[in-house]
Amino acid sequence: MAVRLVNVVGARPNLMKIAPLMKAYRQNDRFEPLLVHTGQHYDANMSSLFFEQLGIPRPDVNLGVGSGSHAEQTAAIMQAFEPVLLEYRPDAVVVVGDVNGTLACALVAAKLGIPVVHIEAGLRSFDRTMPEEINRILTDSVSHLLFCTEESAVENLSREGVDPDRVHLVGNLMIDALESHRRLAESSSILEDLGLFSRPYGLTTLHRPSNVDDPVVLGRILDALEEIGRDGPIVFPAHPRTVQRLDAFGFRERLSSSRAFILVEPLGYLEFLKLMAHAMVVLTDSGGIQEETTVLGVPCLTLRENTERPITVTAGTNRIVGTDPAAILTAYRTSRSRQVHPIRPPLWDGSTAARIIPILGAAYS
Ligand code: UD1
Repeated sequence: MAVRLVNVVGARPNLMKIAPLMKAYRQNDRFEPLLVHTGQHYDANMSSLFFEQLGIPRPDVNLGVGSGSHAEQTAAIMQAFEPVLLEYRPDAVVVVGDVNGTLACALVAAKLGIPVVHIEAGLRSFDRTMPEEINRILTDSVSHLLFCTEESAVENLSREGVDPDRVHLVGNLMIDALESHRRLAESSSILEDLGLFSRPYGLTTLHRPSNVDDPVVLGRILDALEEIGRDGPIVFPAHPRTVQRLDAFGFRERLSSSRAFILVEPLGYLEFLKLMAHAMVVLTDSGGIQEETTVLGVPCLTLRENTERPITVTAGTNRIVGTDPAAILTAYRTSRSRQVHPIRPPLWDGSTAARIIPILGAAYS
């Protein structure tokens, strides 16, 4: 009998993690995978473009929940997901990352007695004001199999009393996606399109509520970026949440009229990968970008007070700099004066899906 697995995606950062896994299932006739999209991200450039570029099959089910408060979004996903599980009766539910759908679907499965598999388990920022930290802790606590990207995650789970037999250090699926697309990304014309060919430029992404929901914090980050933008423009593919805030706080005009910024819509996976690979510096509050820049050997300044991905700092190109403009500028100047090299944390080798598949096969067949 084939192993029936329901796989869940919902928000943009889930897609590059599920893509290598869906591909690996297809190469192995032991699995019967179903793909469920919660619908949390629904704009074409936040979702369907990524399906296309990453070769992810069309979702079998779209729960279509859209936006809402955390409670509304989580509750809507739970209500819509339960009948899917009752109908399909899978052997396990696979969730990735730390978004609201990760937790919502894990809870539904656990209460129906269906084993939950969490990919990217054990990461901790130790900052419970982040909604993602709550999602991580609770998802891990109801998971049956926990796949980790780095040793710190294994240690966190051990400290929380999780049975070590259920925890597997397998590496990073996001790096599988990066490795299988980096050559293709090089053929993107995004540098020419933005007038950046053979010019230095920076790249920024911002979307965390703590950075973009407060006009003072956001304004100070923009001050620092504008200063860095004297060395070469800062490409700023703005997340929908950030665009709403830029408009609400009256910052849009400042960005559009300054030569320090190139404000663009959210970009596709391939375009963004090419921009990252050639940037002089990346400034971000994203989780995944800290990991991708480590492997690409590009300096990354993380505009947060902490990271749940410490290996990108201890072994990679990432620096945690917070949001104080003076600290951002000092870290930027230091990054410019130092040579950085691509670094490969253990098992970030493009073969993580190949390590996960046999473990799933053994656990659920
Ligand atoms: C979510 C995840 C976060 C992840 C991020 C990456 C949670 C708690 N947060 O945050 O971990 O890093 O995605 O992108 O799950 N919107 C659109 N179009 C879209 C999607 C969203 O306009 O396609 C708008 C929504 O209406 C909302 C805002 O953007 O007003 C924020 O979206 P939401 O899904 O609530 O969370 P994110 O900030 O994207």
